[in-house]
Amino acid sequence: MGLSATAAIPAVGFASGARAASRASSESSASPDPSLVFDPDAYTELTIGITDTEGTAHEVVYHFHKVASYVANPVDATYQSLNVSVPVKIDGTAVDASGAPILFANSVGGYMPSSVANNTGITASGMGGGTSRQALALAAGYVVVEPGARGRTLVDSSGVYYGTAPAAIVDLKAAVRYVKFNKGRIPGNVNRIVSSGVSAGGALSSLLGASGDSPLYRPYLEEIGAAEASDAIFATGAWCPITDLEHADMAYEWCWGTNPLGSGAQVDQTISKELRTAYGDHLASLKLRAKGFGALTARNLDDYLLKTHMEPSATRYLATLSDADRETYLAAHTFITWSGGRASFSWADFLTHVGARKKNAPSFDAFDLSTPENNLYGTGTTKARHFTLYSLRHEGGSGARLDEDVPAKLHLMNPMYHLVDKVNGNRARHWWIRLGTKDTDTSHTVAGNLAARLTGLGDDVNTLYYWDAGHGADQDPGDFIRWIASVTGHRGGR
Ligand code: DHB
Repeated sequence: MGLSATAAIPAVGFASGARAASRASSESSASPDPSLVFDPDAYTELTIGITDTEGTAHEVVYHFHKVASYVANPVDATYQSLNVSVPVKIDGTAVDASGAPILFANSVGGYMPSSVANNTGITASGMGGGTSRQALALAAGYVVVEPGARGRTLVDSSGVYYGTAPAAIVDLKAAVRYVKFNKGRIPGNVNRIVSSGVSAGGALSSLLGASGDSPLYRPYLEEIGAAEASDAIFATGAWCPITDLEHADMAYEWCWGTNPLGSGAQVDQTISKELRTAYGDHLASLKLRAKGFGALTARNLDDYLLKTHMEPSATRYLATLSDADRETYLAAHTFITWSGGRASFSWADFLTHVGARKKNAPSFDAFDLSTPENNLYGTGTTKARHFTLYSLRHEGGSGARLDEDVPAKLHLMNPMYHLVDKVNGNRARHWWIRLGTKDTDTSHTVAGNLAARLTGLGDDVNTLYYWDAGHGADQDPGDFIRWIASVTGHRGGR
């Protein structure tokens, strides 16, 4: 990290945004920065064995390109770099990936920094020990881009946090711009970029999809020397997205408010109820609608989640079991009624079945500033800050105000802002959303509302909850790879 602190933390306001925009447009006719030109001939040829989701082993020969930085003025190239993997031979047959979809796979977790700089080949094994999504995509004939990104804990020698919001999304956008800027040089169809990520990475993946080409990021992109190109993507894959952070405390109490902590204790019910009540007002302000439910309110949201996601999830699970195994499961879980090949149960029983909640109240903007999200909204030499009025005022009194820069940063980090407050016409139109029904890292309303809003906007939304699965689950990776072929219209490959 050789740059000064001021380079890492751009001053953003209307004036600097306008200046950046005019500078950017005057530069767009200039010759491209040579450091941002992808060299198709710079690669290592590697061979990898990949077992697909049917259990079939494949041998894939691929070109592995390391891009030292996807921006012209990196703050920290360890994170602002990417790798490109291009299949050239699968099971002995040459493949041409020049028109293939591009899987843009971030590896962000916990809003932490993520680096691919030391990778010497594609990431072969995934979380949980199976074949990684990247490897499955490569074996399907797709191009795989693995970007790194700055994260919340990075701190320079003068104590300045240079990876807090919105650094990670700015970096991922810069990486998309790099790919699109190199259309014709980089293999693959740059108009068919499909993003993927899990948890905080799922949040960033959905944000990337929702906020494509938003001018709000321009000054930040300008500051790091991002390529002049679009950062809109074609499709988004998001697993258990930890997003909508400024509303997540309220949402969490609406969903898990009466569930016990792991210790068996309940969270402070006064705080829980205050947040839960506030969620009703927030939900009403979103004006979400769903087929068969009309306006989604704090009163019918449980039924919406139950009927749209939870019961179908249990039904799918139970349908895959043998009769004997299903009977055993049902005998142990008598809250489920199994009739006509469908599972039904009450929301209250579902909550009891999930059991312990993972987080205390408030879950995201903790009073003592101890969460990853408090750190995410740190700035300068301040490691962690409040980002909701509720927690801020609980600590600082009823007159306390959020730091001036916080509201804009919340918008930069929240896909819902780009789907509800300012509906972005350049958003991705294809969405793959996945979550475990026992995942209490955030409220089920977060993905539920995201899916409801996207569906309401007319986007193609494929949402599925994995029954009884926890945080980070991915139980249908092969389906995701096939979904990519289907939404991108990819006929070649395999
Ligand atoms: C992640 C999990 C969390 O519970 C959270 O608050 C933020 C990020 C994660 O796994 O990425």
